[in-house]
Amino acid sequence: MKFFIDTANLDQIKTAESMGILDGVTTNPSLAARESAPYREILAEICKVVNGPVSAEVISTEYDGMMKEGHELAKIADNIVVKIPTIAEGLKAIKTLHSENIKTNATLVFSPSQALLVAKAGASYVSPFIGRLDDVSTHGMELIEKIIAIYQNYQFATEMLVASIRNPIHVVDAALLGADICTMPLSVIEMLVKHPLTDIGLEKFIADYKKAQK
Ligand code: E4P
Repeated sequence: MKFFIDTANLDQIKTAESMGILDGVTTNPSLAARESAPYREILAEICKVVNGPVSAEVISTEYDGMMKEGHELAKIADNIVVKIPTIAEGLKAIKTLHSENIKTNATLVFSPSQALLVAKAGASYVSPFIGRLDDVSTHGMELIEKIIAIYQNYQFATEMLVASIRNPIHVVDAALLGADICTMPLSVIEMLVKHPLTDIGLEKFIADYKKAQK
């Protein structure tokens, strides 16, 4: 499974990169708004640090605007993936960008029908937001299961990018279902490696070793 970090913060991206497990980055307008530099400048910097796909989201909600922004974003670097909202106008933009060999990430996916449509349109990635579904008392992981089944039925090439991840259990459950990618904040990446028994065990090994040296 590939690991993406969900942030526009360069320091956090560098930290995840230095852990040796980072495969890509997802950003969105809310994440970009937390940073002081303009979005496109940040994206250019991110693309210098990360080799893998970097999702950059359009703000327009109409086809022409999405296409204009999509072309501008794609010019920033070869590894930019244009993130398009899953609405009817977005489907059209995904289809055209796909025909131009520009990669797309269909975002704000909350239903199997949306996932089916974006795959048909040629999205490179589908981003179902599982945490936001959990937040409204709906099992986000059930959506992942359904989308994986649908994509397998028709051999769609669209990669499953599980988004809006809130905790390590989300990542493990997504891995058990065979999701291609999880995108998560740095805090979740750091939680994944932590276990109190590892810390206790390590402390004891070091203490025992020091005792034996006396
Ligand atoms: C994914 O591409 C989104 O940026 C992200 O995962 C949204 O997560 P949130 O629901 O925690 O804002």
